[in-house]
Amino acid sequence: MNEDPAKLSLSNFLAGETSDPLQAPPSFTHWMRVGAWAAALYEPELLASADARTTINYEGKPRSVINLCSYNYLGLANRPEVIAAARDALSKYGMGACGSPTLSGMTDLHRELERRVAKFLRREDAMLFNSGFGGALGTISGLLRKNDVAILDNRSHLSLRDGAVLSRCRTEKFEHNDPASLDTALTRQQGRRQLVIVEGIYSMDGDFGNLKELIAVAESHGASVFVDEAHSMLACGQNGRGAAERFGVEDGIPLIYGTFSKAFGALGGFVAGSKETLQYLRFYAHPYVYSCALPPVVVAAILKALEIGTREPDLRKQLWDNADYFHAQLRGLGIDTGRSTTYIMPIVIGDRERMYRLGHELRRRGLWVAPVDYPAVPQKKICFRACVTAKHTRADLDEALNILEDTLRGADSKIKAAAFRLRCKMSELSLRATF
Ligand SMILES: Cc1ncc(COP(=O)(O)O)c(C=O)c1O
Repeated sequence: MNEDPAKLSLSNFLAGETSDPLQAPPSFTHWMRVGAWAAALYEPELLASADARTTINYEGKPRSVINLCSYNYLGLANRPEVIAAARDALSKYGMGACGSPTLSGMTDLHRELERRVAKFLRREDAMLFNSGFGGALGTISGLLRKNDVAILDNRSHLSLRDGAVLSRCRTEKFEHNDPASLDTALTRQQGRRQLVIVEGIYSMDGDFGNLKELIAVAESHGASVFVDEAHSMLACGQNGRGAAERFGVEDGIPLIYGTFSKAFGALGGFVAGSKETLQYLRFYAHPYVYSCALPPVVVAAILKALEIGTREPDLRKQLWDNADYFHAQLRGLGIDTGRSTTYIMPIVIGDRERMYRLGHELRRRGLWVAPVDYPAVPQKKICFRACVTAKHTRADLDEALNILEDTLRGADSKIKAAAFRLRCKMSELSLRATF
């Protein structure tokens, strides 16, 4: 491949280039080498907890940063009570569940969490998955069949799309949050069982799913709706029951899916719904049946997080106050946050090279935001993603805003020089590695 490396993206390396499928395409390896300075922003090493201020490893040294990267929306990942509950469970149950929930990995703690989640969401039953991704994938692939059709918002998370692909059903996309486009898709696929798949909050754009209108359209076609509440559960709605609660549409959603890896500050996924549907899923969701159950220590932490998250609505108020404040300030600085109306905010840069250069400068200055490149977002929406939490103080947010303002506005020429030096160093290193 002789194209300019700066013009390539992950979507260019999907074809096999050698006779051995276990070998990465050589053009990809070369591309990664040339772009090592940019890729250095990925897989950062966290040296402490995912708190509002934390420490990461940057260029081989510990760097204190304001953390706008973690999904620890309510600060529960490092709440002392949560840690104490996990510690107690560790002494009693040991580390792993050591088996699939179907055969040997279920404990009384898992059952208790199922009951508590079902009660919290006012459903008959709930089941747990060892990851959110596996939960979405397993639920969709466990329920949809070859003659069905999954109708997905075109900004849907990959776990949802992969679930549909695995079920071998037909898939259709509709324009993001657009009821007319959904109506067209449903009409086109008339005569089949249809499942409309949307999200409570979209994880890249930080906007709400247009639940009220989309559910109304789905209902007019007799189609069921599945809502991924990964980023909204416990952090949205008066009682924390997600975007569906916030928009008053819980009754229109038979099956509620969420993760424990975001506002719960832990790990895992769940789905809540009718006893009959979940009884069926417990045998047909492969990531449930054929994968180890969540470690009891994690389940104990989630139980405590759920207790705190429902007992302390002020955490949600603080989260939303912080999000509103940060939004308003970013707008004041003329920073483009796309369609975000929540605590997830893209900071749109729109140019790949500039985004990576700025990403290094931000980390150097003590601000940790996530790089989001094409194809995760369209080219002109290449951005940083910032996640505000309830734990950020005004001082944290103001310092973050100062760093953003200085870096995005003023220091462009300084950054160019530094990035150039870094790139020279990287290519020198990669040349050394080549020879
Ligand atoms: C919308 C959405 N659904 C599902 C998942 C998967 O969740 P988990 O990270 O808990 O596996 C994510 C992960 O970020 C997500 O953003």
